[in-house]
Amino acid sequence: MKLTLSTILSSLLFTCGVHAVPRPQDVYTPTVLQPRRGDTWVVGERRVVEWDTSSPPQQITNPYGTIKLRKDNYTMDGSLAERFSILAGSKEIVVPDVAVGDNYQIVLFGDSGNWSQSFRIVKGEQL
Ligand SMILES: *[C@@H]1O[C@H](CO)[C@@H](O)[C@H](O)[C@H]1NC(C)=O
Ligand SMILES: *[C@@H]1O[C@H](CO)[C@@H](O)[C@H](O)[C@H]1NC(C)=O
Repeated sequence: MKLTLSTILSSLLFTCGVHAVPRPQDVYTPTVLQPRRGDTWVVGERRVVEWDTSSPPQQITNPYGTIKLRKDNYTMDGSLAERFSILAGSKEIVVPDVAVGDNYQIVLFGDSGNWSQSFRIVKGEQL
């Protein structure tokens, strides 16, 4: 076989192509840092949900986040925020008008979900 520039190039491309085969995609479920246990949120207030973005995988299957509320280990319908970057590390939300109580948690969904420590939600006049 005559080794032409084009056969060399195409074999190089082939080699590179083999190395470029994507790895299986990583599931990214960052740890929620805020809110924390003992926090009190007031209905109608703006609060910031924060999560740890210090070690994201190289490939993220789903780059968008969704924030939901969980009470007594039950994830409630509806979202407090959605379609923000999961790499942003924080998102401001408005505390929804839900029943006053303890055992609320924030659920952050990316590829999968993870929840915050439990906190309390009250109405303004109860402070
Ligand atoms: C969820 O967050 C906790 C810390 O709050 C962490 O230990 C755990 O590994 C996380 N779960 C997943 C599936 O990443
Ligand atoms: C929620 O789950 C935690 C951990 O599994 C458990 O300790 C707690 O009793 C549960 N709370 C309710 C209200 O079911």
